[in-house]
Amino acid sequence: MENNRRPESMERITTPELAQAFIDEQVAALKAQVGDGKVLLALSGGVDSSVTAALLIKAIGENLVAVHVNHGLLRKGEPEQVIDVFRNQLKATLIYVDAVDRFLDKLAGIADPEQKRKIIGAEFIKVFEEEARKLDGIHFLAQGTIYPDILESGPVKSHHNVGGLPAEMNMELVEPVKFLYKDEVRMVGKQLGLPDSMVFRQPFPGPGLGVRCVGAITRDRLEALREADAIVRDEIAGLDPLPWQYFAVIPDFKSTGIKDNMRYMGWPVIIRAISTVDAVTAKAVEIPFDMLCRIRDRVIENVPGVNRVLWDISDKPVATIEWE
Ligand code: XMP
Repeated sequence: MENNRRPESMERITTPELAQAFIDEQVAALKAQVGDGKVLLALSGGVDSSVTAALLIKAIGENLVAVHVNHGLLRKGEPEQVIDVFRNQLKATLIYVDAVDRFLDKLAGIADPEQKRKIIGAEFIKVFEEEARKLDGIHFLAQGTIYPDILESGPVKSHHNVGGLPAEMNMELVEPVKFLYKDEVRMVGKQLGLPDSMVFRQPFPGPGLGVRCVGAITRDRLEALREADAIVRDEIAGLDPLPWQYFAVIPDFKSTGIKDNMRYMGWPVIIRAISTVDAVTAKAVEIPFDMLCRIRDRVIENVPGVNRVLWDISDKPVATIEWE
């Protein structure tokens, strides 16, 4: 599409002043595009959709209708943060959809990674469409498409939470950050006053913890992963420089443990931290042994069902970053 090329005259956003100029320009452009109309947005809480939402709130206030779908595969504290930032602080019109049971019921017994991804993507669109249908008179659909999405995969995000939203929704697209690179989106987000934990968030796959809870997802193992992941991220946040991605994985097997002289079976938790430029290749990041031990102690003490902590030191290739 013709209007999907970043204008050559567009300066790189490298300073707060340039970010502010971009914000002013976009707010005016958004007002001109949508007027008094309402705009629907799937708000995952990732940096791209959050910055898109914040720009729209500035431009059209409560006429932005943001929908946050909790599919049960988000990290610890994420849905709460979206509600706190957008509903409580920015006074956005936010529809929170608790779809946890729906997703987990659909995923029960499904072990194949691609099938899991398909189910999560399809269910997401279904839930989002259902919410859209409940609302009358919305003709605009906002998306947090950024320039690398266009360069890599055409005009609509296909690999993201938002999925390829179906054409029959027949809405005009609103994509205020579509010519920005990630560092520029972050700069704009910071200038808009979004919290650092949102703006500088590590990349998180659309299917979320679903691809880190290896094999068929069960609720108890998913909860163990969510808790362990929060501990892993909390400790590794102390590394400088920060790895590009750092998280926990939980496999779908148990190993023998011992407690009070009794043998029992428990899950292992795997620590993964990598650095990369483009996610095409990646290197395992060195984690100091004392940090590993702190993670081990906190996970073993706080996460029921886990009796072993491992560190994945594999590079990509031959391993991938995610386990599925
Ligand atoms: P792999 O595991 O292929 O991951 O080395 C490369 C990068 O892509 C992310 N990833 C995904 N992102 N949906 C996403 O939005 C997905 O299904 C998905 N799978 C992998 C991964 O986190 C890493 O940054």
